[in-house]
Amino acid sequence: MKKISLTIDYSIYDNPDELPEKDKKLLNEAILASKEAYAPYSNFKVGAAVLLKNGQIVSGSNQENAAYPSGLCAERVALFYASSKYPDISVEAIAVTAFSEDFSINDPVTPCGSCRQVMAETEQRFANDIKVIMYGESGKVYVTQKVNNLLPLMFHAEELKK
Ligand code: THU
Repeated sequence: MKKISLTIDYSIYDNPDELPEKDKKLLNEAILASKEAYAPYSNFKVGAAVLLKNGQIVSGSNQENAAYPSGLCAERVALFYASSKYPDISVEAIAVTAFSEDFSINDPVTPCGSCRQVMAETEQRFANDIKVIMYGESGKVYVTQKVNNLLPLMFHAEELKK
């Protein structure tokens, strides 16, 4: 028997102004996208912005539905759109944030498990680390340099080919 323990690295910035300009710009795009969210059921309005290798930024927001499971998170809206529009271009970074009119979100928004899975497969598909920038409505920003930090031991495509 062998015991393995994993550690992950992420940075905490006290506020978005401390971010490098490029990351701050991406986060601003995510903030703008969150304003367009369709989230009448949760009123948790999420925005995500994806930076592609070609410099393009693709953003998206969460889209809810009265049949709750039919909705989709902001990260996957943005990533799937990026992949359908630019299927051969790798992803460099993704920023995610949220706000609500009902309550305040001071902690950074950390992506749900399904979004981590999609982000992780995108990272593997292009063999290119994706930086993840996470923020709430105010306060601290979390940054991790690769999705693998958020989803170690992910389920991956190789397992389907055995
Ligand atoms: N949501 C996202 O868009 N991204 C996340 O990472 C977490 C959750 C959305 C889904 C749903 O519309 C609302 O936030 C509440 O869960």
